[in-house]
Amino acid sequence: MISGSDTATFLGLDVGTSGVKAILIDLDGNAIADASAPLSVSRLRDGWSEQNPSDWWQATLVSVDALSKSSPEALARVRGLGLSGQMHGATLLDKSRNVLRPAILWNDGRANMECLEIEKACPESRAISGNIAMAGFTAPKVLWVKNHEPEIYEKIDKVLLPKDYIRWRLTGEFVSDMSDASGTLWLDVKKRDWSDELLAVTGLSRTHMPSLVEGSASSGILKSELLSRWNMSGPVVVAGGGGDNAASACGIGAIRPGEGFVSLGTSGVLFVSNDRFRPNTQGAVHAFCHAVPQTWHQMGVILSATDSLNWLAGLTGRDAAQLAGEAETAYCGPGEEIFLPYLSGERTPHNNPAARGTFTGLSHNSDPVRMAQAVMEGVAMAFGDALSMLKEAGTEINSLVAVGGGSNSALWLKLIAASLDMEIQVPRDGDFGGAFGAARLGLCAAQNASPVEVCTMPHIVKTIAPDPQLRELYGKQYARYRALYPAIEEAKT
Ligand code: XUL
Repeated sequence: MISGSDTATFLGLDVGTSGVKAILIDLDGNAIADASAPLSVSRLRDGWSEQNPSDWWQATLVSVDALSKSSPEALARVRGLGLSGQMHGATLLDKSRNVLRPAILWNDGRANMECLEIEKACPESRAISGNIAMAGFTAPKVLWVKNHEPEIYEKIDKVLLPKDYIRWRLTGEFVSDMSDASGTLWLDVKKRDWSDELLAVTGLSRTHMPSLVEGSASSGILKSELLSRWNMSGPVVVAGGGGDNAASACGIGAIRPGEGFVSLGTSGVLFVSNDRFRPNTQGAVHAFCHAVPQTWHQMGVILSATDSLNWLAGLTGRDAAQLAGEAETAYCGPGEEIFLPYLSGERTPHNNPAARGTFTGLSHNSDPVRMAQAVMEGVAMAFGDALSMLKEAGTEINSLVAVGGGSNSALWLKLIAASLDMEIQVPRDGDFGGAFGAARLGLCAAQNASPVEVCTMPHIVKTIAPDPQLRELYGKQYARYRALYPAIEEAKT
């Protein structure tokens, strides 16, 4: 076996909603190998979304085991590991370290009443956390457990975010990083520390929380039994890592002020880095710490992006990528059908977990391909909404890179560029998402390397400029789209 720091490799793990992904990179940041294992979501009631933490762990083992089969030598030389993960999920452990109930996920809308309860009990909540209390965040979920499952609440000893549960299984340490911790609503985002005041609103204290590190700093060492399982010579430093969006930003090099990305994953995210804490709670903009020191970020979050296309694909018995391809071939301008992508409610700009999706303009001509185009257009217009909110916060986006599975669709990116009236940069082939960013953070922690030097932008192969004609055509479509939400909002009350 080869060893030595110049042959060191680094592992990134992303605990996503639809699967766990593992990526191995070398010291120069080149991807060597990757593997993944799928996950499914349980939706017991309308608006609920849960997963079993043990499934995350099994999927983690399956994906790293796969790397140990496909790339045993490179895996043996891992020196640093970074974690990324779906944000906000509440993983509850008792004193004996049993998981108390399935984790309640980021796109679960049950805790709406608890958001009002938090803001009433702590009028400073928005100022401290930088965010509106939103049902997807962790604190309202724990308050929901307190209100509806008091026997479980009484037993809570630790609350962990999804990737931090995996960290605990990997290292035995209870640690989170600043970016993911920002999505709990328990963090004082400006101070980068837990807020005793916000914790007290949910009857918790610092003892229930993991300790905090920056994403590029060490949080612990990989357990020896796992070193043996994967035949690693070790030691393996485990970095703080980041919430999936902050980790993706590290993957595509969006860590300097004004650098941003548009992510077309299960959720849709418009992300921009800031040199300081810049809240704008009015438009449901998220203001969080970044995964690198002394940096913050803002984002607008759409809860169902590729999730909407996957839903349509499931419903029509088609494959989502194939549907997107057929929509591209058939494309000849804005369609008649309009889709609001609020399948799990919406965060930016409506902050309404009770909102639901809708199709209008259906006719005898409507078919799965036309409906797929409407889904892609609906998501593109939702990004337009998110950009308006960021602009209202006075935010400038200097550059925007496309990430996430949906960005393989040229049509979808063209629609988003038109909706944002901004250029979108497309990186060379490769996965620059959360797992890759996490591997870079693992490299920083293990080599004591500077995040600014490591988290560079990938080579850009294509720039998609907004098409002025499409912009004009979609201006009218956007007006139709905007008029629909008040109608469905009213129908809900
Ligand atoms: C961000 C958010 C989603 C999840 C998806 O606030 O809820 O982007 O992180 O994994």
